[in-house]
Amino acid sequence: MDKNMQKYVEYLEQIEAELRYCTSDSKVESEQKVVDAMRYSLLSGGKRIRPVLTLAVANALGSETDNNLLRLSSVIEMIHSYSLIHDDLPAMDNDDLRRGKPTNHIIYGEGMAVLAGDGLLNLAYEELFELCNNMPELINVCQTISHNAGVNGMIGGQSMDMTNFQSDDQETSLQYLIKLQKLKTGGLIKAATLSGYYYAEAMQNSDLFSVKLKDLFISYADCLGLAFQIRDDLLDVISDEKRLGKSIGKDVRDNKLTFVTLLGIEESKKYENELYHDIILILKQIEECNVDIDFLSYFTSVLIHRDY
Ligand code: IPE
Ligand code: IPE
Ligand code: MG
Ligand code: MG
Ligand code: MG
Repeated sequence: MDKNMQKYVEYLEQIEAELRYCTSDSKVESEQKVVDAMRYSLLSGGKRIRPVLTLAVANALGSETDNNLLRLSSVIEMIHSYSLIHDDLPAMDNDDLRRGKPTNHIIYGEGMAVLAGDGLLNLAYEELFELCNNMPELINVCQTISHNAGVNGMIGGQSMDMTNFQSDDQETSLQYLIKLQKLKTGGLIKAATLSGYYYAEAMQNSDLFSVKLKDLFISYADCLGLAFQIRDDLLDVISDEKRLGKSIGKDVRDNKLTFVTLLGIEESKKYENELYHDIILILKQIEECNVDIDFLSYFTSVLIHRDY
């Protein structure tokens, strides 16, 4: 197995173990139905791209994967998992399939699914506060995560997504869509990337860290977030249910404004390629700052070319 693929597998194993630990009987009261519902979604697989990004960025900047870093990475996956449970609810996207399994509300009912999402969000912040107790210098990580997960990030983007925006002008729609995607998907991707950056910065006293390098990672996350959602929109049309683990064609069904519904498949692919090109250039600049970009380059390519 290629060494980067091997590293991804290792990251996945570490993240799964941490997520299981965070929701184990010793940490949460297991007999409660809501805990079962939280575990059902959190421990149901997925690509785990956000925690992998946190680990990979911190590692690339010289930090070892220790318990605190793993804990930080798992916080972002909990927030992501909550966002998916709520996204699938009948009041939002009304989906019945996620990661190849019935969605949370299909199994546990809508009320419990709302609570499971809320429970994961609160558990995430509980973990984060505990982490900050051990490492008070991580307070900027807390700010970054709460900012990018909230109305200035993921929730803001989800709200724009739910608004039935209409314009006859394609450029106006495109600008709306870019902002929406950067927030709803880019928000957590940026939070994950910056968390890795801040963690490494807090752990080391090195002149490697600079405003310039941080800004490069922000640009990287912005472009990756946008490209990641364009691929998600493409897969909704060109993939199949079995491979994707989600139902297909739901964006058109719901009259959603997406890259594919606005620009069509070919133009969306072109746009995605342009973004990929931009990301490679950004990674080269990061490398010029003496950062090892080997795994990040591999992982970015996996995400952009994914078929699930
Ligand atoms: C799906 O996210 C929702 C989007 C923001 C595009 P992922 O594609 O990361 O879903 P999982 O976690 O791998 O299932
Ligand atoms: C969801 O976007 C993004 C979130 C913040 C949860 P989608 O609605 O396109 O994600 P899928 O296709 O249901 O995974
Ligand atoms: Mg949605
Ligand atoms: Mg959805
Ligand atoms: Mg989608």
